[in-house]
Amino acid sequence: MMNSAMRIMLTATGIFSFVTIAQASEDPHARFTEESRKTAQEFMQQLAGTLKQQLDSSGTESAIKVCKEVAPALAQQYSTDGKTVKRVSLKPRNQTQGTPSTEETSMLVEFDEKQRAGADVKTMETTRVYTDADGSWLHYMKAIPTQQLCLQCHGKPENITDNVRALLAKEYPADRATGYSAGEIRGAVSIRRAIK
Ligand code: HEC
Repeated sequence: MMNSAMRIMLTATGIFSFVTIAQASEDPHARFTEESRKTAQEFMQQLAGTLKQQLDSSGTESAIKVCKEVAPALAQQYSTDGKTVKRVSLKPRNQTQGTPSTEETSMLVEFDEKQRAGADVKTMETTRVYTDADGSWLHYMKAIPTQQLCLQCHGKPENITDNVRALLAKEYPADRATGYSAGEIRGAVSIRRAIK
């Protein structure tokens, strides 16, 4: 049974969260962060789901094409309403799509520093507002943790099968995205929008 004190507490909590949400939506910075967090989560969940399915059903070699084709296609699909969604890394595999800008590099370095200081990678994110030669930007980044299953293609070279290593070397001659351990930051989802 709910007594009246409990009921008042619940109502107060309800009002409080309503006010918090209303405030967040009025602040463009907070609203952008909220929306981007949701986009990044959906994007990563969809990608991880597709990757896992392909790994389970057809193995590592055939899953390479999920990363090569599905990841950029999904990123494109989420790049709506003036947003650009992509994945970047300090040690990219795809040099064309995965190389970070100056601003992204600085945010990725900050993530690595935070992790060394003990912060949890799973919830690591940041939003910056800045102006560069191309305009003014709202820019959200969410850290991507390396999971155990990622090591088949991003782990220490001696732990990657010869076939997978050969396929990766053929597709990505300048590949830098190996040598990771589980828990390390593999890169980030990057979401940027121009401020009008
Ligand atoms: C089957 C092999 C394979 C597995 C497993 C795999 N990746 Fe990748 N990953 C790739 C390939 C190939 C690319 C390059 C994709 C491209 O051309 O854009 C890539 C690119 C990336 C990128 C983009 C930045 C860059 O380096 O170019 C990130 C971030 C990434 N992977 C994270 C992960 C994470 C996190 C996992 C585990 C959940 C994972 N990958 C599992 C093969 C794999």
